Amino acid sequence: PKAPSQKTAVVKVGAVASASVCALFGGVVLAQYIFTKKKRAGKKTKIIEMMPEFEKSTVHIRDPDRVERIICSMIQGGASKLQIITDFDMTLSKFAINGKRCPTCHNIIDNCKLVTEECRKKLLQLKETYYPIEIDPHLTMEEKYPFMVEWYFKSHSLLVEQRLQREKLPEVVRESDVSLREGYEQFFDRLHQHSVPVFIFSAGLGDVLEEIIRQAGVYHPNIKVVSNFMDFDENGILKGFKGELIHVYNKHDGALRNTEYFKQLKDNGNIILLGDSLGDLTMADGVPNVENMLKIGFLNDKVEECLEKYMDSYDIVLVKDETLEVPNSILQKIL
Ligand code: TMP
Ligand code: MG
Repeated sequence: PKAPSQKTAVVKVGAVASASVCALFGGVVLAQYIFTKKKRAGKKTKIIEMMPEFEKSTVHIRDPDRVERIICSMIQGGASKLQIITDFDMTLSKFAINGKRCPTCHNIIDNCKLVTEECRKKLLQLKETYYPIEIDPHLTMEEKYPFMVEWYFKSHSLLVEQRLQREKLPEVVRESDVSLREGYEQFFDRLHQHSVPVFIFSAGLGDVLEEIIRQAGVYHPNIKVVSNFMDFDENGILKGFKGELIHVYNKHDGALRNTEYFKQLKDNGNIILLGDSLGDLTMADGVPNVENMLKIGFLNDKVEECLEKYMDSYDIVLVKDETLEVPNSILQKIL
């Protein structure tokens, strides 16, 4: 008669034992789950991981930790320590819309009605000769340099021959296909609101560039344009260009030639540099008291051949990205 109760006891003990094993096992699994979940959640403390703009397939970053560090320092520094140094053509302006190329400042003039058919053909030939050299991934900047000087000399001489009228420029810009990158209003307006100095350093045409940003309604007083400005005679006819030529590969002496500007900004040690060419990487050379510099590069053309090189040189590379979303998202954090 004892047997059944003993049996029950054994069964009971067995049940309790297996229940506790189960509980233990379950507990371990649960703990592990909570631990990994916490770890994963913990990883999301990085600012750039919390920014959806950085998840776009256009964004390429070689060293995310470095970008994180720079952005954190810039957030700490805030508006008063920040300044922007940016290229214009194909950086602030769009490279293409639905696959169709957009014009540079020069192309706006090349394609306008003020230029004769013969001159247009010559300018186009120059572009076909020299643009491939400008972006050739197999040539060094030093090797490209003399060709760029040649291109600018020939192209600017042709423009002078055309006796362009200054007063026609607004119309020419209005009728062109130029377009600033998506998000440009936010970009310029936020920088203006927080009085962040913006240095637009362009190897394009200063008069055309200024007209573009004026017509777009974003030529605010915090912007300084350094570019190739046209020299007009007393009748408003183009007779030459002012100052020293700026071409794609001599931007390294920009700060030297604008010492007064950068002296005034000696406390703005946090620099965001925006460019599209490897020559633009030298735009901040010689700027005094640089504390942190974040280089953002738009890679528009010859992507496969150039991506590695761009990723070695720019902190953030934006491939065929016609927007200012990433720069805007960073500015939103800093300002
Ligand atoms: P950026 O420094 O603002 O980018 O402007 C320079 C661009 O202008 C560069 O990509 C070369 C281009 N360019 C033309 O499109 N046509 C020309 O005739 C010349 C001289 C330059
Ligand atoms: Mg450019």
